[in-house]
Amino acid sequence: MQLDDLYRQVIMDHYTRPRNQGQLDEADLTIDLKNPTCGDEITLQVLVRDGLVDDVRFHGSGCSISMASASMMTEAIKGQLVERAMELSREFRNMMKGAEADYDCLGELEALSGVAKFPARIKCATLAWNALERVQADRGGKVDESSS
Ligand code: FES
Repeated sequence: MQLDDLYRQVIMDHYTRPRNQGQLDEADLTIDLKNPTCGDEITLQVLVRDGLVDDVRFHGSGCSISMASASMMTEAIKGQLVERAMELSREFRNMMKGAEADYDCLGELEALSGVAKFPARIKCATLAWNALERVQADRGGKVDESSS
């Protein structure tokens, strides 16, 4: 199997069977974001405990790239330190720019590397990541908040 076919399969698997899709009963932050180029929207909810992404969910509508990226992102950051989630976000952006990226850190997200060749689709792939960065910004950059 060609690498491109494998990547396509990973993307379609996340698109058709999205992980962590839905809503949290309890969330520290909820971010709604729209892709300005197509109007598609995503809502990301995050629950942070002891500096960890304790739980995360997303819902919304969008193309296969945007939904697969959101699904893969939630899978990659769940249970991770918020700092680590932000590191992943930086690496994902590097990959989208076609710059050097840490593929060990990105893992399955590498399946979206081909998007870098299609500037119009980069906004699709980064929609969920923009929401994640807004979550962090809205938390005031805090990474070590404990449960109360
Ligand atoms: Fe709307 Fe991709 S076309 S998110």
